[in-house]
Amino acid sequence: MSNNGIVAGAVVDGYGRIHRALRLSVTDRCNLRCRYCMPAEGLGWIPGDDVLSDDECVRLVAILARAGVTEVRITGGEPLIRPGLAELVARLRAIIEIGEISLTTNGVLLADQIDDLVAAGLDRVNVSVDSLDPERYAAITRRRDLERALDGLAACERHAQLRPIKVNAVALRGVSEHDVLPLAELARQRPYVVRFIEVMPLDAPRSWTPELVLSGEELREMIGSRWPLEPMRRERPSAPATHWRFADGAGEVQFVAPVTEPFCAACDRLRLTADGQLRTCLFAEWETDLRTPLRAGAPDDVLERAVRDAVLRKEAGHGMSDPAWTYRGRPMSMIGG
Ligand code: 5AD
Ligand code: SF4
Repeated sequence: MSNNGIVAGAVVDGYGRIHRALRLSVTDRCNLRCRYCMPAEGLGWIPGDDVLSDDECVRLVAILARAGVTEVRITGGEPLIRPGLAELVARLRAIIEIGEISLTTNGVLLADQIDDLVAAGLDRVNVSVDSLDPERYAAITRRRDLERALDGLAACERHAQLRPIKVNAVALRGVSEHDVLPLAELARQRPYVVRFIEVMPLDAPRSWTPELVLSGEELREMIGSRWPLEPMRRERPSAPATHWRFADGAGEVQFVAPVTEPFCAACDRLRLTADGQLRTCLFAEWETDLRTPLRAGAPDDVLERAVRDAVLRKEAGHGMSDPAWTYRGRPMSMIGG
């Protein structure tokens, strides 16, 4: 399909994919050091002056919203580290085109902040918990914070409007086999949808190998042989997860399989990094600098044109199924998951 990126009220790529969802990374810093993401000593953080201010985030999101973005997911690093996040949420909420604001967090700081975030207009949360065993959680994240993350999740239960509350669990072969059934059981016992995620080659230490991937299908079989599962319809075609309910009606699990079952054909996501770089794909090795023109006083239509030009260059998909494929771009914590 060829187009010039302009379809009324929408930002469309060269394959006809309409972009409705933005992942807004508000910081690259994190209070955990998950092994599949960061080295123990952390990374060289983005300098504070390069991080977009609230005013700058709001302006860019408003421009994206006018171009057709209707959903914003706030990510990091760990977004709750950014001071005053609830105020930013309230300001994003005031952009009329934005129908839903969600948050992906490790949950460690969530219990203290969730009330303010919901009052500011937060609609959904995803809390990352890879293991319910304190020792394995500490081995994966290099911090002993499981209890705080679970407290953060429990605090979300007080807010009925946040449901379904989602738990993200990245699965690693040789590590997560013991965690899969307890996490599935959590989905049966609490009002949480647990989403199992294949590990992707986005770690800063570059230690990913295909052997580390515990596939969505393997995970589904492990759970289904203990508690039979029935497929459900996807929330929407662009949703990356497949949805399964327990046959006995006790809850729901999801599988996100970017490595073994890529979902690029229906992708509607854009990403804005904390330093104001627009990315059209997690795995793109190029970015579009919006911060420099923004700070140089560019008007809205120039910034919108830069967005549309970037989206027109979006690749069809990633090349992970090719054995020779490597990714040399920035790691996940700098992009926002
Ligand atoms: N592969 C898959 N998921 C990852 N996440 C972070 N790094 C990776 C990776 N290499 C997850 C986090 C969180 C979400 C933002 O992305 O655990 O749930
Ligand atoms: Fe989205 Fe990139 Fe995956 Fe495509 S390859 S689905 S753009 S993350």
